[in-house]
Amino acid sequence: MKHLIDPTDLTVNEIAEIIAVAEDIIANRDKYSEVCRGKKLATLFYEPSTRTRLSFTAAMMELGGNVLGFADAKSSSVSKGETVQDTVRVINCFADIIAMRHKVEGAPLAATEVSRTPIINAGDGSHSHPTQTMTDLLTIKRELGTLNNLTIGLVGDLKYGRTVHSLIKAMTRYENTKFVLISPPELALPDYIKRDVCDRYGVEYRESNDIESVIGDVDILYMTRVQQERFTDLEEYERVKDCFILDAQKMRGAKERMAVLHPLPRVNEIAIEVDADPRAAYFRQVENGKFVRMALILKLLEWQNDEERTFDHGGKAMGCKCPNPLCISNLEPVRPRFEASEIEPGVVRCVYCESKAE
Ligand code: CP
Repeated sequence: MKHLIDPTDLTVNEIAEIIAVAEDIIANRDKYSEVCRGKKLATLFYEPSTRTRLSFTAAMMELGGNVLGFADAKSSSVSKGETVQDTVRVINCFADIIAMRHKVEGAPLAATEVSRTPIINAGDGSHSHPTQTMTDLLTIKRELGTLNNLTIGLVGDLKYGRTVHSLIKAMTRYENTKFVLISPPELALPDYIKRDVCDRYGVEYRESNDIESVIGDVDILYMTRVQQERFTDLEEYERVKDCFILDAQKMRGAKERMAVLHPLPRVNEIAIEVDADPRAAYFRQVENGKFVRMALILKLLEWQNDEERTFDHGGKAMGCKCPNPLCISNLEPVRPRFEASEIEPGVVRCVYCESKAE
């Protein structure tokens, strides 16, 4: 069974294949209007969403398929205490493919352990958001024509920003990628991404305190929202929430050929005046999300019985504990799984959320 839980579940060739199908869908919409006739997508959203859930819904409808699911866990039997794995066993009786968003990190991976249909991670807590990454990759390719030799500035909440974590993991596999990390110290990129992703693959990154001094160097400026919902200390949120704001004045320092991306929703971090700049690609990015999800649904349904396609997050019980209170391994009865870091001697990480084990 092929699932998409982390961007690295897809090989670079598989990503290229999905992007090629998305581009073909854009060019030949009618050709795809019946290809999922009789198929059902279940959207299980335990956390709020506009773009991801509705673009999955629109994607399946445009493929001729049907959609069922819930947009709020309170309206499902989850509110009575049903676990993620039991919910998925039930949904397997009704749908051919499942897209799941959950506030608990590792919940979609736990779902794969019991599922008879492909599971797509539509965002798990602060951890990962691979379909946003597929959206970002298609957008970068369409805006700049390539995924190689790019310097990407990542701005805002790099600590809790799952879109950032997934994009970094994906982009390290392309030639000569460089990152500029622009965040307040409180929202710096987690160590596991710096070490187990960037250092492991020898990808260059530098840190900066401001947009102005680096905007002229970047091909992609990836803005993110400071996410109030991830903070336990609201005073800390108030202190950092407006730390980086992109406006027309700052855009004057940017390259003529570059693109501003944002997974959205935005709050204050991009001034409305930037929307009129042709380099502002974030609303085009939203539409690309629908096309790439159409391609992803098609390919995962096609690949689900292909024994040569791999899906393996590895890990085993090691007698240690995940310290993350928001990890599925601490909240539901799943089998704890840990794996030794390939780059840090003696470090063991939880397979569900990638936290350093205790
Ligand atoms: N980009 C994104 O995940 O948006 P939603 O939260 O609206 O789905």
